[in-house]
Amino acid sequence: MKAIITAAGLGTRFAPVTRVVPKEMLPIGSRPALELLVEEARSAGVDGITIVISPEKELIRAYFADEKDIGFVYQNEQLGLGHAVLQAHIDDDVLVMLGDAIVTGCSAAAEMADVRRRTGAAAVVGLERVPRERVSRYGIARCGAIDERARTVEILDLVEKPPVEEAPSDLAVAGRYILPKGIFDLLAVQKPGRKGEIQLTDSIASMAREGGVLGYVYPGRRLDIGNPDGYYEALTAMRSGR
Ligand code: UTP
Repeated sequence: MKAIITAAGLGTRFAPVTRVVPKEMLPIGSRPALELLVEEARSAGVDGITIVISPEKELIRAYFADEKDIGFVYQNEQLGLGHAVLQAHIDDDVLVMLGDAIVTGCSAAAEMADVRRRTGAAAVVGLERVPRERVSRYGIARCGAIDERARTVEILDLVEKPPVEEAPSDLAVAGRYILPKGIFDLLAVQKPGRKGEIQLTDSIASMAREGGVLGYVYPGRRLDIGNPDGYYEALTAMRSGR
C-alpha cells in the first residue's frame, strides 16, 4: 500500500496567509502540519508517499526534498479532492490522507491498516461521530451492521453534506481512507458533484453500494486546520495532548 496526501487545494478559507504559506505547512509547534501526516503515513507501514501539490506550493516540495520515500505530483486545476487523488494514479492500494486534517490521540492510518488486515475489507474509511447539528458540513455514512467493540460499521452509502433532517447517521468521513486500486477507475469516470468538483466521496459511495466498504470510528480526534478557528483549536489540542 502507498500513501497519497492531498495538498493542492486553494486554501481560500485561510486567506490571505495562504497566498504565501500553504495551509498544510502551518506550524504545529515547531513543525509543519504536513510533517505530522507524513509520520502517520509511515506508521501505517506504507511503501512510499505521494504528495499532491499545485505549482504555487513548491515550498512543500522544497521542505521534503531530502526524504527518499516522498514523491510529488501536480494538480494544475483545483477540480476537487477526487481529481487531486486521480493525479497520483498509483497501481496499488492507497491510503489517502487530507493534507489539512491532523489526527490527535491515535495513529488513525495505522489502526485502519490493522482493521483492513484483520477483516479483509476492500476499503476502510475513517469515521468520526459529530454533533447532529453539524452533519451538513461533512460526508455522512449510511450504516449497516455495527460492531461496537471493534469500532467498525458496514458503510452502505455516503451522502455529501446532507441537511440535518436527511442525515442517515451522525458518522462523518474524517480525513483518512484506505482504498483498493479500483478507486482510480471510478475516479476517472466520476461526474462532477457538489460545487461542480470531482468528489472522492461520490466514488467511494458507488463502491459502498456494491459492498465491502467498512467504516472505522478511530478513537482520536480529527482537527481541521483549513480555517483559522480549526487551526487555533488544533494548536490548543496538540499542546494539551488531547
Ligand atoms: P478542502 O476542500 O478543505 O481544501 O480539501 P481547499 O479547497 O483548499 O479549501 P478552501 O475551500 O479553498 O478553503 C481538503 C484537502 O484536499 C486538498 C486540500 O489541499 C486539502 O488539504 N485538495 C482539495 C486538493 O488537493 N485539490 C482540490 O482540488 C481540493
